[in-house]
Amino acid sequence: MHIVLVILAYLVGSIPFGLLIGKMQGIDIRKYGSGNIGTSNVARTLGKKAAIQTLFGDGLKGLLMVLLARAVLDDERWIVAAALAAIIGHNWSIYLKFKGGKGVTTTYGAYLGLAWLPALATIAVWLAITKATNKASIAALTSSLCAPIFALLFGVSTPILVFSVLGLLMIYLRHIENIKRLLAGKENTLSRTKDVER
Ligand code: G3P
Repeated sequence: MHIVLVILAYLVGSIPFGLLIGKMQGIDIRKYGSGNIGTSNVARTLGKKAAIQTLFGDGLKGLLMVLLARAVLDDERWIVAAALAAIIGHNWSIYLKFKGGKGVTTTYGAYLGLAWLPALATIAVWLAITKATNKASIAALTSSLCAPIFALLFGVSTPILVFSVLGLLMIYLRHIENIKRLLAGKENTLSRTKDVER
């Protein structure tokens, strides 16, 4: 049962909501902006409504997989494994030839299901830095760094602490291009581009 749940989490996590929402508008989101399939690139390319839909899709798949794992499994290590599988699915999707997104929304959705207080604090940092900089990558890199700190402050279990560290590492791994662009002063903002005619 445990492994079935982890595989299911990977398959559900692999659903690329940003790409699907773009396709519904006749747009392949991978061809615009940063080329990413996540909420930020959907926001700058297709606007607020599509971004909110992507946010809910990508966030809920992480959250729901954790809640399902919690309902079915009794071992927190396996619940965390399901959470990580959902993020891995988003980042290396089976439906996209193992390409995918950067995992921020799915990680924070899963984190909410695992430990809502440190997750909410992490999301609050993400929101504040996004508002201050208008650059989602800076917000992701800063808030994900805070995730294990909040985990420690709120005294979560060891598996959840491990989740916060592995989540952080995957977010950094998937933001290497963003880090390069930030260092070169060429990072995209969240402002709507004129790429897509409307
Ligand atoms: O959540 C992804 C975000 O941190 C960066 O996305 O499109 O600006 O590369 P993007």
